[in-house]
Amino acid sequence: MAEKRNHSNLYRQHVEMEAFFVGDFTRRSAAADTSADSQPKLTLEDIAAKVEACRKCDIGSTRLHPVAGEGNPRARLVFIGEAPGAEEDQQGRPFVGRAGQLLTKMITAMGLRREDVFICNILKCHPLGNRDPKLDEALKCLPFLKQQIEIIQPEVIVALGAHAAHILLETEKQIGKLRGQWYDFYFSESSPPAKLMPTYHPAYLLRYYSYENRKRVWDDLQKVCERLGLETILTS
Ligand code: URA
Repeated sequence: MAEKRNHSNLYRQHVEMEAFFVGDFTRRSAAADTSADSQPKLTLEDIAAKVEACRKCDIGSTRLHPVAGEGNPRARLVFIGEAPGAEEDQQGRPFVGRAGQLLTKMITAMGLRREDVFICNILKCHPLGNRDPKLDEALKCLPFLKQQIEIIQPEVIVALGAHAAHILLETEKQIGKLRGQWYDFYFSESSPPAKLMPTYHPAYLLRYYSYENRKRVWDDLQKVCERLGLETILTS
């Protein structure tokens, strides 16, 4: 047993050193670790399968494809939007339409790639007509998101837009008042909270594409970079 434990310690040390030297942008300690001592845990694929089978609300029957989320299962940073749009519904992938292209630019500006982070939504299915998600739909879907966060164990979550911020922080305060500040997001009883930064949704930015709004979002993202130890480019 002691030998096994030493072996798994050595393995973990090896992974951490390798990550350090190749500059891998992933979590250092693995809760989703599959070492000999740990119990088998749910995977992101298990959650995606549960989402696929879910019919807890009506939109489960009207959507084309479920959009569970995508990205690095060990991401230190997770972006959470509102719900898949029509384009996402077609492709079964999050943030691939116009707002998604802007989100990709934001991630790139942070010095990261989409594959480095995890991207998902509060709702896993597209509400017909792109209407706002209803509260009961969001609450029925929330356990999937919390399970995803528990698997990934990110350090930081960015809530994109009012809807995501309201559901995750259980508040109705305006996004303009919430953004730019850190909050604790408790996703499970056995894990410490992730730090959560609300900011404007990229779709809002596209609609109100002013310098001031872009700067507000960039300021918020710089705080995220700072917390994660990423280099930031300061704007005046
Ligand atoms: N808007 C969202 O909130 N999520 C998506 O996946 C796409 C657009």
